[in-house]
Amino acid sequence: MRIDIISLFPEFVALCAGFGVVGRAQERGLLSIHGWNPRDYAQGNYRRVDDRPFGGGPGMVMLIDPLRAAIDAARAADPIRGRVVYLSPQGRALTQARVRELAGQSRIILLCGRYEGVDERLLAAEVDEELSIGDYVLSGGELAAAVVVDAVARLQEGVLNDAGSAVQDSFEGDGLLDCPHYTRPVEHALGAVPEVLLSGNHAEIARWRRRQALLRTRERRPDLLAAAGLSAEEARWLEAQDGTGDEAG
Ligand code: ADE
Repeated sequence: MRIDIISLFPEFVALCAGFGVVGRAQERGLLSIHGWNPRDYAQGNYRRVDDRPFGGGPGMVMLIDPLRAAIDAARAADPIRGRVVYLSPQGRALTQARVRELAGQSRIILLCGRYEGVDERLLAAEVDEELSIGDYVLSGGELAAAVVVDAVARLQEGVLNDAGSAVQDSFEGDGLLDCPHYTRPVEHALGAVPEVLLSGNHAEIARWRRRQALLRTRERRPDLLAAAGLSAEEARWLEAQDGTGDEAG
């Protein structure tokens, strides 16, 4: 997969993508990241990339032409078309389902704004989709772009050593939160590992994990339960639990 970053700080996103799983994806040639700085396409001695907003008010607005030239340069670098995704608090909420769809594309072009925003005409002409990573305002789209790169990269085939681990993640499949995980030692001053996980009984372990995921989702994100499509039996079981997190059986 190819990801192009249009940003005044493209190195920032590239740096974030240099570690761990995402760094390895690049090393293995499963992901390539290319930065394009609108300042390199700006005119004049000062290479202006922004100007004051018409109508007055605080802050600066990013100019159409440097951004457009950077997008054109990115496009010219590869014949794969690629959707242009603008990171913005006004965008559609990024979900794991959307991440999966984006991860299936062979190219995306991420557009990062700075200052108060980007001239609306550029957005109307060039952007296919706006995405938000949450209901808060960042000083620019770069951190949000780094989030998209990470989430999309780890789903590329061959990136995770165990492909099954992505399927188990929170929000995957039926959209429940993940169950708790334990490793050695079995006994520790902070507590013991739940016995069922040591039993070797895979059916029992799967049932325990599923039930833990149900309890955890009800406790932390009840909004996700409605969409999860629980079986009647599971719904009855959950109803019978007292909300302490301990199974009634
Ligand atoms: N740019 C600024 N805030 C943002 C947010 N919450 N999500 C995506 N891009 C942003």
